[in-house]
Amino acid sequence: QLITNIGCLANVRSKTKLLRGAALAELPVINNAFLLIEDGIISEYGTMQQLETTSDKLKTINLQAYNANGATILPCWCDSHTHLIFAASREEEFVDKIKGKTYAEIAAKGGGILNSARNLNATPENGLYEKALLRLQELIKLGTGAIEIKSGYGLTVEAELKMLRVIKRLKESVSIPVKATFLGAHAYPEKYKEDHEGYIQLIINEMLPNIAAEELADYIDVFCEQGFFSVDDMIRICEAGAKYGLRPKLHVNQLNSIGGIEAGIKLGAISLDHLETMNDAEINALADSNTIGTLLPTAAFFLRMQYQPARQLIDNGCAIALATDFNPGSSPSGNMNFVVSLSCIQMKMLPEEAINAATINAAHAMEVQQETGSITIGKKANLIFTKPVSSIAYLPYSFGSDMIDKVMINGTFV
Ligand code: NIG
Ligand code: FE
Repeated sequence: QLITNIGCLANVRSKTKLLRGAALAELPVINNAFLLIEDGIISEYGTMQQLETTSDKLKTINLQAYNANGATILPCWCDSHTHLIFAASREEEFVDKIKGKTYAEIAAKGGGILNSARNLNATPENGLYEKALLRLQELIKLGTGAIEIKSGYGLTVEAELKMLRVIKRLKESVSIPVKATFLGAHAYPEKYKEDHEGYIQLIINEMLPNIAAEELADYIDVFCEQGFFSVDDMIRICEAGAKYGLRPKLHVNQLNSIGGIEAGIKLGAISLDHLETMNDAEINALADSNTIGTLLPTAAFFLRMQYQPARQLIDNGCAIALATDFNPGSSPSGNMNFVVSLSCIQMKMLPEEAINAATINAAHAMEVQQETGSITIGKKANLIFTKPVSSIAYLPYSFGSDMIDKVMINGTFV
């Protein structure tokens, strides 16, 4: 399949290195380009002029041509942090908060993560699967071409397994890369409110062995926060996960800085996510590590909290990625286009930085950088075709407008 007359082919790379510092602001483009796709894989690209003069290979094969008519083409977004599996939305809590209720009052009424856990336990696997599949299909239309999905609304052995089985079914039914993360340590369930040790034992001795036996998870996550799981809890749970080959991707520093960054780096976390609250020592430690900092600005937006210090993180050399945190409590949207806009508007990321953080660096944060996240020969043709735009910066600038014309997954338009 030959795509001609591409106005701008963006994020074209021969190497798939993780980007940090000044490199994050470099978005390599080819203007007036062509792209060749064979069996759903990117096999060649160049300028239209090169296509006419040099490319012999293109003359010999029987080509199906598509005229992009000046569209900009980007690699699809990689959403490396979501809680896509849930039984019900929570807009009643949203309205309660508008009316002035505090988080504690909402929790006292049975709200929050435990509210979602109750609903999820009462919903059969098929129902969860159908809802999650619809959500995922919507996200693909919004340009998401790889996704990570967490458990964590089960909080019982059966319901955590149920969530992870749903993720496994999604892996089999959609054609984009899907990664599964076990987040049994999302909140202490009601039953273990006074027995935290008992729940940790349940995670380590019951949940993990069953998950490993069915090969249901790629990663392990812990919500490390005051009132949730302590740093010591997180270390024990991650060390138990490591015995089954699960590397951590962790929720840290959303509300408080309690040592999760330092511990997460020592645990060899692929990514440390949220990072609304970061001190200088933590920023330096992250910059000196191989761990990616994943920023979730729509969670800060929805909860009316301070945004992540993206500028400081980037300027100090941290490798950062962007993700949606799609979940019914703190970010009921999985729209990566809005995440990219918000990152530019509220966190002062340059458009190029935000696009790189939402594609190639985010691909690294879920270990799919060999398959997707840039326009690279040998990678999947998971691509966003935009409507006519005057420049790359127009994409985040025009927040809220739908600038996507078409999305291609493995060389096929969806
Ligand atoms: O990533 N912070 C913890 N977990 C989710 C929110 C969970 C919920 O409210 O359902 C998050 O923001
Ligand atoms: Fe989250």
